[in-house]
Amino acid sequence: MPVYSEKVMDHFMNPRNVGEIENPDGVGEVGNPVCGDMMAFYIKVKDNRLADIKFKTFGCGAAIAVSSMVSEMAMGKTLEEAMKINAHMVADELDGLPKNKLHCSNLGDEALHKAIEDYLGKKSGRPAAAVMTEQKKAGGGKK
Ligand code: FES
Repeated sequence: MPVYSEKVMDHFMNPRNVGEIENPDGVGEVGNPVCGDMMAFYIKVKDNRLADIKFKTFGCGAAIAVSSMVSEMAMGKTLEEAMKINAHMVADELDGLPKNKLHCSNLGDEALHKAIEDYLGKKSGRPAAAVMTEQKKAGGGKK
């Protein structure tokens, strides 16, 4: 039985920002093919900042805690700052995750980043992937 930190237990028992945003500016959905868990992030963007974030996670307790923590870490951040959030930072903020649950932390930043990419793609009228490639070439979106 894995031992979870108090922070993981808190975010699992009382997840922040659960739900769905009506008419979101961006949506990011990811799934883990191994365990079958799924996560969706919804964002609202104002003045290049994440004005609201909600998520729905169908998954293990660690995935729920990770989603909750990612939503708190990214709230109010600029899109560039939010793109820099990675799985290690999330696990650190949660005071660690058991080794066999570390993969669960990958879903959180991936779903958030996909939602931002979706927003940027819609805003520019071009596929999100093309926008992200340009941003990376320009030096943005580095981890
Ligand atoms: S076991 Fe699937 S995300 Fe945690």
